[in-house]
Amino acid sequence: MKRIFSGIQPTGNLHLGNYLGAIRNWVGMQQDFDFNCIFCIVDLHAITVPQDPAELAANTREVTAAYIASGIDPKRCIIFNQSMVSAHAELAWVLNCHAPMGWLNRMTQFKEKAGKRRDAAAVGLFAYPVLMAADILLYRASDVPVGEDQKQHLELSRDIAGAFNRHYNCEAFVLPEPRIFGAATRVMSLRDGTAKMSKSDPSAWSRINLSDDADAIAQKIRRAKTDPEALPSEPAGLEGRPEAENLVGIHAALAGVDEAAVCREFGGRGFADFKAALSELAVEVLSPVTAEMRRLTADPGYIDGVLADGAARAGAIASVTMSEIRKVVGFLTPRQGA
Ligand code: TYM
Repeated sequence: MKRIFSGIQPTGNLHLGNYLGAIRNWVGMQQDFDFNCIFCIVDLHAITVPQDPAELAANTREVTAAYIASGIDPKRCIIFNQSMVSAHAELAWVLNCHAPMGWLNRMTQFKEKAGKRRDAAAVGLFAYPVLMAADILLYRASDVPVGEDQKQHLELSRDIAGAFNRHYNCEAFVLPEPRIFGAATRVMSLRDGTAKMSKSDPSAWSRINLSDDADAIAQKIRRAKTDPEALPSEPAGLEGRPEAENLVGIHAALAGVDEAAVCREFGGRGFADFKAALSELAVEVLSPVTAEMRRLTADPGYIDGVLADGAARAGAIASVTMSEIRKVVGFLTPRQGA
């Protein structure tokens, strides 16, 4: 059976990379995976680094609103926050006992996030990729649409699923396929074309947030770093020009075309012209999403209802998997134990 699972951390500053690298692709996949799409707001992952409780709750509602405002239909798909289904934490523990430390030591995201103060990082930050494997394997998802930066975590999820299946000589877990596609699998910072656009970048000029209004979007694009040359007429001319490549990629993704088409249209023209066109396009695509997000976040009762309904539906699927896993592992259930 084909099933999608994906998620976003409610850590604030939802940005263009999240939208183009993930959410927008999910919207397009809903049709093909009819009634088998699960989109999570991964709040258990968020607390692997310190969070303010009130902000975490507000950000969870904001990500939910972004999913719906972008076109994910809560009736067709399951939308829920991870902590409402305790099976995520339970399966993560079981998988923690099957994931060698050496595999986790290789994860580049942990190294980046923990930095030089590795010993001070929480155990949860180290085990983060195992929780991610649990998210996916719990629903036996076949396809996981994500941006490029999650590829290594997905490979680990496949390795953990394989190790578990082999250890217990069973086929409890489906090996998930990463789905990394579109013109913007890695949106870069507007201030540095070699760094990923990220929620945690201290410079607000580095990213376009989904909460930005038209003026903020236009200002950020106007101030985006570029080089002095004109745009090339073919994508090969973008080589060695990371900032130009990033802006062309963003334009292509927003317009739903490839980079070659953007180069054909703007080749030989300067960045002033190109940035004006890019601003207009970004505002045209993002404004309706932003406006709908605002409307939805003003109605927390509705958002909470969507999450509760989603959690009930997700929980029903998760509990079937967990019953099987408990049996495979040899845990007595209350009835067996009585
Ligand atoms: P997170 O919250 O960092 O990012 C959410 C999604 O946005 C994509 N993304 C980007 N895509 C293109 N360019 C960028 N600059 C950019 N920044 C972020 C990410 O690739 C991701 O698809 N570990 C995950 C959340 C997670 C998850 C899961 C995902 C937890 N469990 C299970 C899939 C399946 C994360 O931190 O995403």
